Amino acid sequence: MPTLHINGKDTAVDADESTPILWALRDTLGMTGTKFGCGQALCGACTVLLDGVPVRSCTTPISAAARQKITTIEAVGQDKVGRAVQAAWVKHDVAQCGYCQSGQIMSATALLKGTKKPSDADIDAAMAGNVCRCGTYVRIRAAIHDAAKTLA
Ligand code: FES
Ligand code: FES
Repeated sequence: MPTLHINGKDTAVDADESTPILWALRDTLGMTGTKFGCGQALCGACTVLLDGVPVRSCTTPISAAARQKITTIEAVGQDKVGRAVQAAWVKHDVAQCGYCQSGQIMSATALLKGTKKPSDADIDAAMAGNVCRCGTYVRIRAAIHDAAKTLA
């Protein structure tokens, strides 16, 4: 049975190595914070971090994560960058329907871990793979700037 390192814990996953991480999280482990949108790496709803890098879990098999740390929305607030992002999301009331937002938060957290003071262009580039059907992009951008200020 494959073992994945998820949110700081080694976790045995009763699934084939070719199973996308998304389904291991949601179906096998009951961690439903990571969302299914398109299933084709096109919308970003399923974004998790693999060693800090945002990946689309709907198309990334378990085998690709064998020796890497997976971070999901359930634990993103355990470090100060993720906490600042989540607080800014609440302050700016970013979510509308909310469906895309766990993926948005994962990508925003990865951005701020690597770029302390992102420009609008940095934000647009980093968030380009995360689609929001409710059009919350302006609030997302404001929340990322605000989180960067909090962390400065
Ligand atoms: S569900 Fe993975 S990118 Fe859309
Ligand atoms: S908040 Fe509804 S899809 Fe983004």
